[in-house]
Amino acid sequence: MSIIKLHDKYFKTYISAKKIDEATQQLVDQVSNDLKDEDRPLFIGILNGSFMFVADFVRKYRANCEVSFVKLASYEGTNSTGKIKQLVGVNENLEGRTVVILEDIIDTGNTLQEIYEIFKDKKLKQLKIATLFFKPDIFKKDLHIDYIGISIPDKFIIGYGLDYDGLGRNLKDIYQITPKPKSKNILLFGPPGVGKGTQADILKEKYNLVHISTGDVFRSHMKKETELGILAKSYIDKGNLVPDDVTIDMLKTVVKNLSPSCGIIFDGFPRTEAQALALDSFLEESGQYVNGMITIEVPTKLLISRLLERGKTSGRADDQDENKILNRFNEYFTKTEILKKYYKAQNKYFGVDGVGDIKDITKRLSEVFNKL
Ligand code: IMP
Ligand code: MG
Repeated sequence: MSIIKLHDKYFKTYISAKKIDEATQQLVDQVSNDLKDEDRPLFIGILNGSFMFVADFVRKYRANCEVSFVKLASYEGTNSTGKIKQLVGVNENLEGRTVVILEDIIDTGNTLQEIYEIFKDKKLKQLKIATLFFKPDIFKKDLHIDYIGISIPDKFIIGYGLDYDGLGRNLKDIYQITPKPKSKNILLFGPPGVGKGTQADILKEKYNLVHISTGDVFRSHMKKETELGILAKSYIDKGNLVPDDVTIDMLKTVVKNLSPSCGIIFDGFPRTEAQALALDSFLEESGQYVNGMITIEVPTKLLISRLLERGKTSGRADDQDENKILNRFNEYFTKTEILKKYYKAQNKYFGVDGVGDIKDITKRLSEVFNKL
């Protein structure tokens, strides 16, 4: 899922371009079937919203047809004003013609009513209405709609021709309005092999968060040979820990480059109290804070056998030797203990049982995420 912001509102991905394409094809199939004896039906798109739908619809329509547009705007912002503001009509003589109105969306039905009014005395052979989207919960009119693509709940949508105050028409997917995302900044902890990466990947999707793994950031800087990467490498190559200020500066840059409304799962940071203090202060600069520290807990014995098992296939030298594994645990537990104390003092520490199915563990973690 992804969230975008247009003007002051947030929208989340809702209907994919592929689904829209399928719905359009179905509409074309139905209309083609019903109009197979018609010489050259006239498709009339209702501007502005229907331009994309009409383009895709007529491209799929195999028989002869004519295409025209009328403009009827009844919308301002996200609320129907009910009043029609403009009309740029069809001027040609429509007597005896088969007309199919192509609407992007039918909401209250005010526009549709207006259309019926306009075409009432044009002596058409027949008038048919096709709409890509339809909101049955809000439609109160006693008017017939011949073809409906996708019925949706009464929530404002944008994309694929539909706009919010002018924006969003160019998006190929449909997005639905969503409340402002509450950004959560969560520190995910756990000894090596506990399943942090796996869970972070699932949780970042579920909660629309960005996953920042310190290790990954370091590696990417070193690969790109940035100033920071070269500096970090000079320590790492000598087998030394990268000093706090270097790590902090690097993380700070990553966070600064994200949108302030964006929540983060930190993985591998902070590792020291100095880093924890620095994190608090640079999050504060953008009005944010750490929501909680969650440790995934698995008995050491179980982890050792898991890692040795992984070592058989991963080729990682540090996964193959029990002594090396124990060393890593030692380091983890001594360091984490300090941070545990730090976040416990702020009532932000949570331990989650990491034994069991991936799904069960996600569920346990979600219970904590939900209350943070
Ligand atoms: P109606 O007259 O209330 O049925 O709505 C007509 C017009 O309102 C549509 O043609 C759109 O331009 C606009 N509209 C209704 N619902 C939405 C929506 O969810 N997103 C964007 N525009 C909408
Ligand atoms: Mg419209």
